[in-house]
Amino acid sequence: MATTSSRRTVDLPIALDAGIPNQASRIHAALRVAIVDGRLRPGLKLPSSRALAEQFGLSRNAVVAAYEQLLGDGLAEARQGSGTYVADDLPAAQSAAAPARLDVETLPSRAFALGRTHVDGGLLRQFGASVRRHVVAASAEQLGYGDPRGSLKLRAEIARHLASSRGIRCDPGCIMITGGTQQGLRLCAEALLSPGEAIWLEEPGYYAAHGTLRAAGMRLIPVPVDGEGIRVSDGRALAPLARAAYVTPSHQFPTGVTMSMARRVALLDWASAAQAWIIEDDYDSEFRYAGPPLTALAGLGGERVIYSGTFSKTLFPSLRLAYLVLPRAIAEQVIKARSAADRFPPAFLADAVADLMSNGMLAAHLRRARLRYRQARETVASALGQASRGRLRVVVPPQGLHLVAYLPAGLPIDAGARIRAMAAVETRLLSEASLSPGGMEGFILGFSGHDSRDLTAAARRLGQAADAYIADSGVATD
Ligand SMILES: Cc1ncc(COP(=O)(O)O)c(C=O)c1O
Repeated sequence: MATTSSRRTVDLPIALDAGIPNQASRIHAALRVAIVDGRLRPGLKLPSSRALAEQFGLSRNAVVAAYEQLLGDGLAEARQGSGTYVADDLPAAQSAAAPARLDVETLPSRAFALGRTHVDGGLLRQFGASVRRHVVAASAEQLGYGDPRGSLKLRAEIARHLASSRGIRCDPGCIMITGGTQQGLRLCAEALLSPGEAIWLEEPGYYAAHGTLRAAGMRLIPVPVDGEGIRVSDGRALAPLARAAYVTPSHQFPTGVTMSMARRVALLDWASAAQAWIIEDDYDSEFRYAGPPLTALAGLGGERVIYSGTFSKTLFPSLRLAYLVLPRAIAEQVIKARSAADRFPPAFLADAVADLMSNGMLAAHLRRARLRYRQARETVASALGQASRGRLRVVVPPQGLHLVAYLPAGLPIDAGARIRAMAAVETRLLSEASLSPGGMEGFILGFSGHDSRDLTAAARRLGQAADAYIADSGVATD
């Protein structure tokens, strides 16, 4: 409650702008802003003019004038014999800012949306408890600005994990924790590439990487993908002197192809001859359903390979934790770019993820999630196959959290979009993951983190819509 005594100093949560020369205008502006943004609530009694004048070392006349102005604005009201109050009914436009109408892209979330993972309550409780432990036991040093590479604890766990499961031997000192794959990509572009330089991208490919690299001013060179991965010979023909290639060799996004050993060798050979960087995005290798895991490109000894991993699939995307493994020669350069950007992601979250790795909880979670996701993959593939009566070619991937259902060739260019609208499903199209027109069309279908009944219903709708559309078009299914 504001004081009514003119002798006591008052403590209004306002700050005066010394740049406003006139005392009355200065106090009026400060009070006006505080009322409009809600710091001084409706009905609050304002201090007497004498008390306020004393608090800010202003003349009493200036405060009286400011109060009169507030009364004129309708922001204050005088009550006979009692003083001045913040108005009970503030003019509508003053009490709340009009909602801004901004065109902000939010990602789909219903069945088939990518970027969803299973919500495991037990794991989240453990994770939350771990974050809490780190926060309450934090030292002054841990509460300060730290190493721009991020949590050493997490980097050490990542190095152990990569050595045992991806064939990559790396020093935790060359690992950098980032706020997601896109941020890592952006930092690599900033530190190692110059705007206007060419970078090879798989076609079709990861649309978010397209956006990041375009924003960094890179010249995007779409290089076709076939059954062995990126066609290195095409890349050499299109842009032999490109400065970098961004690839997903373990599980090409979105087609699901695993890059053959011959292509891996060809890509490494090109990079070393062209002195180019390969950015290997190994985003979902923890979810392999058949066959042994393949050694990462970075594990083949490429000093020109920057390896990128993420916790968005193994845990969940809103964590915003990913990492880069940097070749020694460029580590300092990229880490400098990191310092200049925002230093590092929240250390308590990173330390808690390290706990889940070291106590085996993450590995146990992944074993359970793998079974669940494999089941979801079967559910979608079989419902789509049946409902489309074989008209969609459904490719069941050996790895990952999405599959692709291809449309036959020869349909109109907007066939995918029309079928998607008919089926009312949220799915990305292959054409939306492509930089150039004219490639195969199909649906990129995320199956992780969704209820299996929703997946089945959505797969049936999509399959039936595709069947009806294709039958109508007269195009034969290949
Ligand atoms: C190819 C690819 N890379 C990386 C990611 C993860 O990105 P982030 O770490 O920014 O969440 C995804 C997520 O869907 C992806 O599809």
